[in-house]
Order: sequence, then structure tokens, then C-alpha cells
Amino acid sequence: MHNIRNITDDLIYIGCSDRKLALFESAYKVPDGVSYNSYLLKDEKTVLFDTVDKSCDVQFFKNLKAALGENKLDYLVIHHMEPDHAALIEDVIEKYPETKIVCTAKAEQMIKQFFDFDFNALIVKEGDTLNTGKHELQFVLAPMVHWPEVMVTYDKTTKTLFSADAFGSFGAISGNLYDNLNIDEARRYYTNIVGKYGMQVQMLLKKAAALDIEMICPLHGTILKNDIKLAFEKYNKWSLYEPEEKGVLIAYSSVYGGTENVLEILAGKLADKGVKSIKMFNMSYADSSIVLAEAFKYSHIVMGSTTYNTGVFESMHVFLHQIISHNLQNRKFVLIENGSWAATCGGQMRAELEKLKGTEFLNDIFCIKSTLKEEQITELDNVVNTIVNSLKV
Ligand code: FEO
Repeated sequence: MHNIRNITDDLIYIGCSDRKLALFESAYKVPDGVSYNSYLLKDEKTVLFDTVDKSCDVQFFKNLKAALGENKLDYLVIHHMEPDHAALIEDVIEKYPETKIVCTAKAEQMIKQFFDFDFNALIVKEGDTLNTGKHELQFVLAPMVHWPEVMVTYDKTTKTLFSADAFGSFGAISGNLYDNLNIDEARRYYTNIVGKYGMQVQMLLKKAAALDIEMICPLHGTILKNDIKLAFEKYNKWSLYEPEEKGVLIAYSSVYGGTENVLEILAGKLADKGVKSIKMFNMSYADSSIVLAEAFKYSHIVMGSTTYNTGVFESMHVFLHQIISHNLQNRKFVLIENGSWAATCGGQMRAELEKLKGTEFLNDIFCIKSTLKEEQITELDNVVNTIVNSLKV
């Protein structure tokens, strides 16, 4: 049975939700699932906005058939070629061979990379428009949000932005299509998927600010109406790499508990001094996509690692790599290292973090040899005071 939802008189949701996926992009856990959104506009000409992931093909084609009714499919707009949305392009053209694909030149090139079929394409550039009858669609390029071929579409008639990956979120659609924004999952989606491309997101935000937008239809997650302002505010902060909140993220790796003990004591001392916003993760057990999202949220990051094979312990190394590769900026760091005979990981973490714009180190590396000793408590108190004072600024 089809499962289509009317958004307006002539716009229909025909996407699907996936609650079986173990890892999105073979990388990210999605405990609440994920949705692959697709929309059909039924004007004098019909327009399909993107397809869905291969895993949802049966449901998608039932939905498309039901939504089209007796109409033929005139256009397939491809906003983004990543296969979670573009997997079924060839199948659509096979079933509806008269359909013309509307996409950027880069997307056309990628269609040829991913597939091997003949198609008619209408290549569009920044600001090009397509009149479908009552609706006038304007195409806006959004390169690197999240791939280079990406564009978004603004429906001038209904003031709707089809935003591709932008403003998307992890989490399946559980009945409610609108304004069901889970900020934690939206942040985790943004930071892990698009976080590296803050500058390009800023460019899209500037273009979008010039449009009068009443509804945003992204390719993942909830459709936005009342939450548009909130989503713009969050996207602005995330893409400028500004913390959302003054607070302390504590991430550590500990083999036998010596390093963990220091971080536990430090966290307690922060709390005793009135710091409420503290999040703590053992990186050997935490979901690193969650910790990366928290790193984008908080102003201060304490990293503690044991030295292992003369380097940073593996699970902390993964987190460090994630911070670097996602271009996190403007954070205040405290570094704690442990080494029973040769503590070197603090310097290595520092050397990596120094590459990030706006990084500030609040302490000399705090070093323990195997376990924290009583004579180091004053030094630890100094670190705590430095963090507390910095949070007040
Ligand atoms: Fe949802 Fe970049 O694909």
C-alpha cells in the first residue's frame, strides 16, 4: 500500500523512513532511524524532487505511482547525487522514460559516474527558473552542502525551500511531518555530515536570507514551518563554529582507570564551583558522532588520554581526528596526559589542535605518571580555576 501525505493541495510527501539501518553512510548509528524525503509537485507539469535510498525502493515507487495518478512525470529535480537520495534515478527514468532530469552540470557528470543509462537533462545554473504552471521554481546553487553538485530549489509561488541535505536531521518520520525538530539529532546530523563545510553553509544561509521562506522541505527529517527561525539560528552558529553554550565537554581514554580518575575528580571540582553544564564521555565506549556534536555545542573541551605506543590512545585519536577533519574552531582546550614511563600524548594532541583556527589552550599540559598524586591537587585546582574563570568571560 502506498503511504503518501498531502503537504499542500499540489505538493505530496512520497518519502520513506528506515528504522533498520545499522549505520548511516556506513559510519553513523541512527537509533531513531532516518528518513529519505522525496516530494512530488502536481502542477500543470509534474515535478519529482529527488528519489530515495535503494533500501526503500518498493515503497517509494508505490508512493510515486499513487501520487502521480493518471499524470505523467515531467521533471525529476536532482538536488544532490549522494545515493541516499539518488539511488533510484535510473529506475525512475526506466519507468517514466519521458521524464527530463533537472540538475546542475556537476550533477549530470555524477549521474554518468554512478549510472550507465541515457537521459534527457535540463542543466540549470544559479538563479535559473522553471515554470510548471502555477509554480515558478528558482534554482540556487549550494556547492559543498554537502557535495559539490548540490543545489536547492525555491518555489516562489508557495515560498517553499527544497533544501537538499541542509536543515536535515537524523530520525525517522514518526507520523508527524512538521516541526518535529530534535535539536540534538539535527546537530549530530549537521556536525558529522556537513560540519566541515561551514563557509559553504554560510554562503547558502546568506542566499536563503534573501528569500521569503515559509516552509523548508529537507531531504532528511522533519519539514520546517514554525521552526525555521530556530533552524537558521542553529545553522548560523554551527557553521560559524561558535559554541551554543558555555559548558565543558570532557572526553577521555583510560586503560586502567588512572586517567579516568583525574577527569572524574576534575569534573567534581568544576561542579563544586557551580559549573552546571558538564558532559563527560569515555571515548572507548562513547559514540564518537555524539561526542563530535557535543564538541560543536560546548565552549570548553577537556581531553585526557593515556600514552599508548608512544602516541595518543586509539579511541582518543579517533576523536582528535574527528575534531580536526570537521574543522572545529574557536574552542578552549585543557589537555591532560598520562604516561607510566614516557608521557608524550599531550604534546601530540596539542600539535594537532593548534592547526584549528581560534584554538586556545587554557593550561600547560597536565601530566600524571600512572595515577594522580596528592601533591598534584594544587595544580589540578589551578586548572579547574582557570576553566571556571574562563567560563565567566
Ligand atoms: Fe543525505 Fe549528502 O546525502
